[in-house]
Amino acid sequence: MKKHSLFPSFVYQTKLKHQGKSVLSANNEIMKEIEKISHIDLQGRQWSRENYVGGYTSYSSYNQLHRFSTTFEDIQNLIDKEVLKFAKSMDFDLGSGRLQMTHLWANVMPANVTHSMHIHPLSVISGTYYVKTPKNCSSLKFEDPRLVNFMASPPRKARAKPENQRFISIQPQAGEILLFESWMRHEVPPNRSKDTRISISFNYEWC
Ligand code: NI
Repeated sequence: MKKHSLFPSFVYQTKLKHQGKSVLSANNEIMKEIEKISHIDLQGRQWSRENYVGGYTSYSSYNQLHRFSTTFEDIQNLIDKEVLKFAKSMDFDLGSGRLQMTHLWANVMPANVTHSMHIHPLSVISGTYYVKTPKNCSSLKFEDPRLVNFMASPPRKARAKPENQRFISIQPQAGEILLFESWMRHEVPPNRSKDTRISISFNYEWC
């Protein structure tokens, strides 16, 4: 008997490293910069009040942080390498084009802040680098991209094997990145930690 696994969806998780060493030590500097940016970013704070209730994101305003300072540019250079590895592992045929980071923005999520299910339109690969992940903070939750086709397919057992689940939550740690194809629907469930969860998210386009 052979059981084929067809059309899998991939999420790439790895510690971000510089010359073989974790970049965790950069996170204090990243947090300081995010703090400064959030103070001067009136437009982003206004946008967050309406679209990111209880938290702060620079998604609509300071959304090219890789061009803002060398702190973020250095992180971009490391993420670029992982995105390339991920694309290679999926046999992307990019022709004469390449994958380029177009946006990088900050996300600050105090207790109970949530970010509902969404995709990242017009991008190819999206992901997040985790700056601060206190105990019990939110995971990143993915939805089975075939969900809309399931019709009368029976539900799966609560303890079904991961490959049979309809939703999978991945718990990231500070210093790690998660990468996925931008069409994969995902959300950040409410932050159950009393402490603030901080991350920077990014999009790559095929140019
Ligand atoms: Ni997202």
